Amino acid sequence: MTRTVFVDGVLNDRVAFVTGGGTGITGGVARALAESGAAVALVSRKIEHLEPAAAAINEKGGKAFAVAADVRHFDEVERAVTATIERFGKIDIVINGAAGNFLCKAEELSSNGFGTVVDIDLKGTFNVCRATIDELKKNRGQVLNISATLHYLGTPMQLHVSAAKAGVDALTRNLAVEWGRYGIRVNAIAPGPIEDTEGMSRLVPEPIKERLKKGIPLGRFGRIADIESAAVFLCSDAASFINGNVLVVDGGQWLAGNRLV
Ligand code: COA
Repeated sequence: MTRTVFVDGVLNDRVAFVTGGGTGITGGVARALAESGAAVALVSRKIEHLEPAAAAINEKGGKAFAVAADVRHFDEVERAVTATIERFGKIDIVINGAAGNFLCKAEELSSNGFGTVVDIDLKGTFNVCRATIDELKKNRGQVLNISATLHYLGTPMQLHVSAAKAGVDALTRNLAVEWGRYGIRVNAIAPGPIEDTEGMSRLVPEPIKERLKKGIPLGRFGRIADIESAAVFLCSDAASFINGNVLVVDGGQWLAGNRLV
């Protein structure tokens, strides 16, 4: 966040475990949490994405370290959790941002293609929540899942992701109910189209970008900073009674029914 409306150090003394935290939207969220005072563990498959992101945070005076793990594999997630606790002493914020996506018509999608995205987005989110529950209980921590709005309506060529994100929303609500008794909050953010992301450049063909933008009531694409602010708010004590919510941050796009991708 280059400019923030939050007071300095709003997340001081917190430790965040951020999957997909090297790049894109969740990379921005990790940076914003660090700028707000949290120590952050950046976790994803590719260490080469994570190390530059961790170095950039550390150079600016934040606390970050990179740990490689594929969220599809529970043992790898467990090892990353252990490494984070060894490094920073605890975990009290979990951000599930690791995701896979590609455009494919349902009739051409293979079973493995469907399963791969569900494994990364949905099973990966479960794996991370499951592997961090003891820490979250101990620290009355919280989970923030990065969802989507694709499944609110039918989105062509996104069956696999829509199914996975619908599951993420279900998991968010279930865990909010089951884990609320431990003082753990579980919420999600559903971003609309966010400019300057791999998703936008790879998944939205150039010719339809302008049409897509016109369908957003606020008349612009989202910025990574829009998601960063929502994440810092939900992770802060200002949101201490917010549990089981999926916060849509899309400029009103899905309500307007514009489902072009
Ligand atoms: N269209 C159709 N099917 C595809 C596909 C595409 N563009 N990309 C992958 N698949 C299918 C593969 O064909 C394979 O199925 P098959 O065995 O039946 O052929 C299955 O998905 C697994 O693909 P594979 O490349 O082996 O998986 P992976 O684990 O290496 O990577 C993704 C899977 C989804 C993560 C990959 O698309 C990727 O690396 N994407 C970039 C990162 C990303 O998506 N970030 C999110 C940005 S929004």
